[in-house]
Amino acid sequence: MTAEPSPAGQGSPFAQPTPAISDAEFSRIRKLIKELTGINLSDQKKALVVGRLGSRLRARKVASFEAYFRMLQNPAEAQELQVAMDLMTTNETSFFREPEHFTILADHIRALRPVPFPFRVWSAASSSGEEAYTIAMVLADLLGTAEWRVHGTDISSRVVERARQGLYPMERSASIPKNLLHEHCLKGQGQHEGMFLISRHLRQRVTFTQANLMQPLPSFGPFDVAFLRNVLIYFEPPQKKTAVEAVAAQVKPGGLLIVGHSESLTGLGHGLIPLRPTVYRVP
Ligand SMILES: C[S@@+](CC[C@H](N)C(=O)[O-])C[C@H]1O[C@@H](n2cnc3c(N)ncnc32)[C@H](O)[C@@H]1O
Repeated sequence: MTAEPSPAGQGSPFAQPTPAISDAEFSRIRKLIKELTGINLSDQKKALVVGRLGSRLRARKVASFEAYFRMLQNPAEAQELQVAMDLMTTNETSFFREPEHFTILADHIRALRPVPFPFRVWSAASSSGEEAYTIAMVLADLLGTAEWRVHGTDISSRVVERARQGLYPMERSASIPKNLLHEHCLKGQGQHEGMFLISRHLRQRVTFTQANLMQPLPSFGPFDVAFLRNVLIYFEPPQKKTAVEAVAAQVKPGGLLIVGHSESLTGLGHGLIPLRPTVYRVP
């Protein structure tokens, strides 16, 4: 029987199965991902690596994980390396996730006398933009048309592109307070039926760039507040410290650095002043 020509990686029922990954191959890929992104893949993440990178082996017609690993080391394959890094990230996020942090942001601004303009907030590890647009809604509510800006960065170019569009499935709007939804979001029509778009007046003040917290960062700041939430959980202490220091370096003295609720900076020796769990002041 002649083999069905399968459009690689397109989910054809006749697609070639992904080859198995040996312990040695997994160990090499794990080391590379950790060096590049800081993300620590435990032994239990083997199936995840096979599942996520398997589609790339098929798409690039590569016969083994060893051959794919060698491909990633080729400087001419920088784009494939970015795709592989994108695939290894977990981008779960939502609007008004861990909502008390947005109350803390609002309280911090109310306590500032006067508010320093331009007031700038950084969503470091912004994923598809929900966190950055949530911050923007809070700033618009409090500061109106005064000079404020939000900047989002993420290692994944795929989510950065989605964040720039500001277009989301309607289900994601459920966590946005109704008044803010009406004020700052537009219901999609026609080809965008079932979606909503962040209004232009907010999108104009929110920018996104791709940036890796494990590598020297361009100067984005200085920021008045930085959100570094739900990314440190993927790192081991040395990488956590690198990320925290890189972000804190671009926050003004007296500004805030906020981490996720399941994240702790205890024992990192970061020099930040803890204000309450997950909230730190930059000295
Ligand atoms: C779970 S999401 C968190 C999104 C948002 N901060 C939140 O709390 O909802 C984690 C994000 O961190 C990003 N990330 C992982 N490693 C990174 C790195 N080294 N530099 C920058 N971003 C990274 C991932 O691409 C992903 O979008």
